[in-house]
Amino acid sequence: MTKFLITSALPYVNGVKHLGNLAGSLLPADIHARFRRQTGHDVLFLCGTDEHGTPAELAAAAASLPVADYCARQHMIQAEIYRRFGLSFDHFSRTSGAANHRLTQEIFARLDAAGYIEERTLRQAYSPTDRRFLPDRYVIGTCPHCGHPAARGDQCESCTRLIDPHELSEPRSAISGARDIEFRETRHLFLKLAAFEGRLRCWIDARHDWPPLVQSIARKWLDEGLRDRCITRDLTWGVPVPKTGFADKVFYVWFDAPIGYIAAGVEWAEQAPGRDWRAWWQGGDEVRYLQFLAKDNVPFHAVSFPATLLGSGLPLKRVDIIKGFNWLTFEGGKFSTSEGRGIFTDRALELLPADTWRWWLAANAPEGDDVDFTVERFVDGINKDLADTFGNLVNRCLSFVANRFDGKVPDGGAGGASERDLAAALDRHLAHLRAHHEALAFRKAADEVRSIWKLANAYLAHAAPWSAIKQDPPRAAAIARTGINLVRLAALVGWPFIPFAAAEVLQCLGDGIDRVAWPDRAREDLCAIPAGRPIKLPPPLFPKISREALAANVAGRRPA
Ligand code: MF3
Ligand code: ZN
Repeated sequence: MTKFLITSALPYVNGVKHLGNLAGSLLPADIHARFRRQTGHDVLFLCGTDEHGTPAELAAAAASLPVADYCARQHMIQAEIYRRFGLSFDHFSRTSGAANHRLTQEIFARLDAAGYIEERTLRQAYSPTDRRFLPDRYVIGTCPHCGHPAARGDQCESCTRLIDPHELSEPRSAISGARDIEFRETRHLFLKLAAFEGRLRCWIDARHDWPPLVQSIARKWLDEGLRDRCITRDLTWGVPVPKTGFADKVFYVWFDAPIGYIAAGVEWAEQAPGRDWRAWWQGGDEVRYLQFLAKDNVPFHAVSFPATLLGSGLPLKRVDIIKGFNWLTFEGGKFSTSEGRGIFTDRALELLPADTWRWWLAANAPEGDDVDFTVERFVDGINKDLADTFGNLVNRCLSFVANRFDGKVPDGGAGGASERDLAAALDRHLAHLRAHHEALAFRKAADEVRSIWKLANAYLAHAAPWSAIKQDPPRAAAIARTGINLVRLAALVGWPFIPFAAAEVLQCLGDGIDRVAWPDRAREDLCAIPAGRPIKLPPPLFPKISREALAANVAGRRPA
């Protein structure tokens, strides 16, 4: 049995994430983890907050908190939101934890010993007023490309171009606003990425099963020639550099963050006896490692992190499949954390149940292209799929049994030709659904789930137990029993997408939810719930939502 090691890109700790972050890594990773567990595989699903780097430091300063306290608090807030979204991490870690510090330093020491690290002298922005260097976002100024007056030292938010701080005109400190910026020499460490070019190319060329989006981004990086990367920064918050002469520096956030995936496994193992992180991170072919991330993260996962692992010489698992996502946009523009534009995950949970967001974001996953979230498309999709299709199926079957059979599953025998046809059609859909999940094709998987729900509704409409009950009560009983089992099957295939509603339905059917098994043989699954079992009616699962009401609620900007 294959074991699945699954990671989602680690969300930056600063600030609550928006729906785009959910759609482009956390949610698909969770859906896949649930599917693999459901089909009986061993799964280790890891994530955590990415806590180093200048954005975290600056956000802490803006909140007037020590950065460690700020990160601890934001970590808790994000962890709680993800729990409420049903993200079923086996462990949700922090890159500022001891395990990540240890591992990052060990991997660095090995890279250094193997000759992959080089010291270089750089000229870096320095402010005498602040008495410190101003790396990355600590220096702001006017963008040389578009004239934006508040471009950051690493990138211009307005035109998105990467910037070298030397190029900024009127540079100033993001801390104090001081304009006395000078460029002083300072020593830094570089990872000799270019040395890995051949090995990376061989490795990537053999990844025929990577999605085209990911392949093409990775190839583009290789084709443009790999540049050695500066992996140290003049900061205090981060993983200290264990090398003489570098005591006052820490590693660059993108050096330690992916190592955080492994550290999350180490922490997971430390939390309970009998857990072995090496069985995952040092496993052989029986472990398949899948990463879920947005397209801007591809270079780090397809090139620099694999190079780091290769160069360390440690027998650590490299990724098998990278599932990359395009952008989710919001009403025709970008989601923007800094401008508070879009719907944020905390607000989303105040507005509607987690399942509604999960369903729409998966059914409209930005896989082939960018996808625009609009309130109109969202409301239409939810009302059709969840209220009219899934909710309606559950409600009509369960209330029929409640009203006509005293709330107990009737004994209807094995059914006849229409039940055999139904089972055959279901088997075809289930095979497709499984294949789409295995191919990480989320939209297609959601389409197939929707088809199964529709098929169930069509069966009921055709069999019409509410008419049959007058002329042929045994037949009505057979249909009702099939209907109840269809509800169960609809909940089982829905479970990776809408786990809360699915669990609620399964509980109403008296089914355990500790192990939600994959329905493998429709014929048997249509008889799974025995006659005589009492069932309960769930509260209305997905009341229709109003476009106007939601639009009025999401129009406002996020309060600061
Ligand atoms: N925090 C990064 C982002 O949101 C992702 C880090 S993924 C990791 O873009 F591998 F570095 F952890
Ligand atoms: Zn610009």
